[in-house]
Amino acid sequence: MGSLEQVAPALYPPPKDFASKAHVGSLEAYRALYERARNHPEEFWAEVAEREIHWFEKWRQVFYWDPPFAQWFVGAKTNASYNCLDRHLDSARRNKAAILWEGEPGDQRILTYGELHRLVCRFANVLKARGLTRQDRVVIYMGMVPELPVAMLACARLGIVHSVVFAGFSAEALKGRIQDLGATLVVTADGGWRRGREVRLKDAADEALAECPSVREVIVLRRTGSEVNIKPGRDFWWHELDKEVGEHCPAEPVDAENPLFVLYTSGTTGRPKGILHTTGGYLVQTTATMKWVFDLREEDTYWCTADIGWVTGHSYIVYGPLSAGATVVMYEGAPDYPQWDRWWRIVEKYRVSIFYTSPTAIRAMIRQGDQWPLGHDLSSLRLLGSVGEPINPAAWEWYYRVIGKQRCPIVDTWWQTETGAILIAPMPGATPLKPGSATLPLPGIEPAIVDMEGRELGPGQEGFLVIKRPWPAMLRTLWGDPERYELQYWRRFPSTAGLYFTGDAARVDADGYYTILGRVDDVINVSGHRISTMELESALVRHPAVAEAAVVGRPDEITGQAVCAFVTLKQGHTNYAQVAEELRAWVAHEIGGFARPAEIRFVESLPKTRSGKIMRRLLREIVTRGEVSGDVSTLEDIAVIRRLSVPDED
Ligand code: WT7
Repeated sequence: MGSLEQVAPALYPPPKDFASKAHVGSLEAYRALYERARNHPEEFWAEVAEREIHWFEKWRQVFYWDPPFAQWFVGAKTNASYNCLDRHLDSARRNKAAILWEGEPGDQRILTYGELHRLVCRFANVLKARGLTRQDRVVIYMGMVPELPVAMLACARLGIVHSVVFAGFSAEALKGRIQDLGATLVVTADGGWRRGREVRLKDAADEALAECPSVREVIVLRRTGSEVNIKPGRDFWWHELDKEVGEHCPAEPVDAENPLFVLYTSGTTGRPKGILHTTGGYLVQTTATMKWVFDLREEDTYWCTADIGWVTGHSYIVYGPLSAGATVVMYEGAPDYPQWDRWWRIVEKYRVSIFYTSPTAIRAMIRQGDQWPLGHDLSSLRLLGSVGEPINPAAWEWYYRVIGKQRCPIVDTWWQTETGAILIAPMPGATPLKPGSATLPLPGIEPAIVDMEGRELGPGQEGFLVIKRPWPAMLRTLWGDPERYELQYWRRFPSTAGLYFTGDAARVDADGYYTILGRVDDVINVSGHRISTMELESALVRHPAVAEAAVVGRPDEITGQAVCAFVTLKQGHTNYAQVAEELRAWVAHEIGGFARPAEIRFVESLPKTRSGKIMRRLLREIVTRGEVSGDVSTLEDIAVIRRLSVPDED
């Protein structure tokens, strides 16, 4: 990275009063932390670990590296649930709100740390009573209700691995994840509320479970009160099991490297990857970044609008904020229900001071018009955050002006499911902001931009973003597939062996600021959700009418990228409009509604190389620019391009 001395004239320096109270209050303070971490990484992380986390037993060794397998805080004992709950109970935090929850219909619950602890202990006792042990995996398929973090923290309390499946995923996707994990228990709900309609979670779980022999029991939370099927001997109501247990349940000291959760994300093949995170290092870094990046203070009210089903919710709704003792706002439903000011109503009502959302959401808000935020008192806000995709400067400026009233710094946070915690982001009291840039690496993080040969590139050059040194919250492996872990992240190119490969393209400026340009692999980022083109293609070709399919991302004003599918149909299918509708529904059924193609183009054949590989680059150019340029000499049939270049009927 470039020298930090050269930080360009600040476009947006930290506001003075913000900096004066911040955890890290000047660029010099940031630089000192960064240098300390670079020169003495193990001492640095040991200091952070001592300060941020309760340990039942200390480590023998801070870091053990048997590339590409890392261990942090080797030999130490801790517990994530203890750190998020018990350790707060001896202080004024006992009766502080941990979760301010609002359901979509307008119902409301406030859980103090003491009460959250009580619920978690009870549910952990339920899990124990069902005979679960550390050998089990629990899949959690629920909407955004307090019992979702309760279930996660109850698993963590007993050292049981949880895997949350986003409630927007279909039965098919749920089934694949349960099977891959060999989960023995599923926790779900009758349903959840979204845009005034019920998402029928138990129905989807039933469909998935028809082919999941590993699952012995299902625990069902009553949320919507609608009629569901209860299979005797397999399905149990949460509230009934709850009656049978007590409230005493000590957190079990687990090894720092005890697996905490598996979260599935899309990779470059048709099969989702189970990202495995462990306990100690993950907790250290998610907790520390709450202070470095969100500058969390005791009196803050913090709201991250993500769903807990994605990593953002794991790290920055549940583990990071609760470990740091924050008051967290949690909202069940859609931002436009009953109308487009719902979020701003919530900010006003709970006096939210830190607000963290995605560029897609910001762009959707811009389109709806300024009257929605302007109709509410947003003066409680002091810090804004962005995550999931590059934020374009125009959206950044709107967020800064209309939501933050030019008072609130914006932290553009770059990280991934795999990284566990934020790696590149401003420290809002220290780092001058540049719209569109995630700014500088956090302490302990050493990124670089390299080319295909692994050569480090200089300022201004675009290349692959890599991380040169392991960090505590990094993934440890892929569930059941250590070879794929090694190949995907540590040996993508022979020349980049030993560097963590992010899959992103980026650029670093002379002042050391990073700008993330987007994915370089077959992953599309729709509204900050990762979708694999291969996964979509294999879903499409499972449909009986489809012969071949190729999927690419095309730029979209709101969602960043949108799914565009090129499809060839089998003989006899000519009702394109009807098939297109069917295919959209099919994708929703196979993966989830959020992956539904925005555009389906029917073509006679797909452009391929001589070896039969679909030329996605070409398709990407067609959907991006509407024409094809560059070298097409490997095409089998050049006429195909001409046919593809005119939008086909849809
Ligand atoms: C991919 C990771 C990390 C939580 C949500 C997404 C993109 C993420 C930024 C940002 C530009 C970003 C990258 C990354 N991304 N944050 N601030 N600026 N791009 O987690 O599903 O694992 O996706 O999201 O392309 O690789 P994820």
